[in-house]
Amino acid sequence: MTTADPTAPRASLQRVTALQRWAPMLWSLRIDRPEDFRFAPGHYAKLGLTGPDGQNVWRPYSIVSATDDPELEFLIVLIPGGAFSEPLSRIEVGQSVQLASAIFGFFLEPQLAPGDTLWMLATGTGLGPYVSLLRTSGALDRYRRLIVVHSVRQAAELAYRDELEALAATDARLSHLPIVTRDAGATVLSGRIPALIADGTLAQHAGATLDPATDRVMVCGNPDFTTDMRALLNARGFLPCRRGNAGSMLFEKYW
Ligand SMILES: Cc1cc2nc3c(=O)[nH]c(=O)nc-3n(C[C@H](O)[C@H](O)[C@H](O)COP(=O)(O)OP(=O)(O)OC[C@H]3O[C@@H](n4cnc5c(N)ncnc54)[C@H](O)[C@@H]3O)c2cc1C
Ligand SMILES: NC(=O)c1ccc[n+]([C@@H]2O[C@H](COP(=O)([O-])OP(=O)(O)OC[C@H]3O[C@@H](n4cnc5c(N)ncnc54)[C@H](OP(=O)(O)O)[C@@H]3O)[C@@H](O)[C@H]2O)c1
Repeated sequence: MTTADPTAPRASLQRVTALQRWAPMLWSLRIDRPEDFRFAPGHYAKLGLTGPDGQNVWRPYSIVSATDDPELEFLIVLIPGGAFSEPLSRIEVGQSVQLASAIFGFFLEPQLAPGDTLWMLATGTGLGPYVSLLRTSGALDRYRRLIVVHSVRQAAELAYRDELEALAATDARLSHLPIVTRDAGATVLSGRIPALIADGTLAQHAGATLDPATDRVMVCGNPDFTTDMRALLNARGFLPCRRGNAGSMLFEKYW
């Protein structure tokens, strides 16, 4: 007799509807969305697969799609040997993954105090929540300027680059600053985001300041990056968002 796993989330099987490969180890996955699955940009979902031992493995993934998209989209990097991302990389259109019924997370832009400029800083797959924010009509109406900074190793990993550039061409508030760190010359800017902020390069390039009086900053991706950014912004007078207290900076760590 098998007993139900008491830690398993309530979930449903959802069909994979589309895959987009950006680079050999980086892709976007779209799945059907249950009618009652509601989220805000910045929330993450939990996806599950059944392992060879019959046990389900669950991992969190930020939602990339707009809140009114009838499907759910995720941006995923393959971690060689990873218990989840490796089997997930073999899933094809028409096959299914488990989707936990609940949504999770606090990386939600409305937690920030009103401001003039929103900086959206990402490494790797940490771009996802910003694409959801930018795709969701009206989500960022309160800002006068929007600056997306996306750092990846190689140019091919600049997922959603064309979409963001097309959006920037029609929305004068938006600047998209791609950064490639391991392919010199592939982008105008190179180097890690905290260093480019510390020496003023990023603000100069964006034609903006980074001032807690007017600017709000979201930081998502590699945990060493979020740690460095927290120290840097803290030293400049940015304040965290605490329960009930709107701040000027928000963080999401992916591991
Ligand atoms: C709130 C939250 C949201 C997340 N959203 C995403 C997302 O949108 N897309 C995504 O690909 N992953 C995301 N992750 C990470 C994801 O949940 C898995 O950890 C990842 O897919 C690897 O799973 P795994 O079982 O293959 O390897 P794991 O054993 O879980 O991870 C092994 C190692 O891989 C590295 N790693 C894990 N995730 C990443 C990543 N995203 N980028 C670079 N290195 C990584 C770390 O060094 C980690 O220790 C998120 C994690 C959290 C906590
Ligand atoms: N992306 C791929 O297609 C690819 C290719 C090979 C392997 N992998 C596997 O995927 C994993 C994750 O790769 P990833 O490239 O998506 O994520 P990543 O290692 O977090 O790198 C993404 C971006 O974040 C930058 N970064 C890393 N640490 C930082 C820090 N402390 N401060 C500021 N910026 C920082 C990187 O710059 P730096 O270049 O300076 O580190 C890079 O520009 C790897 O560990 C590997 O297992 C992925």
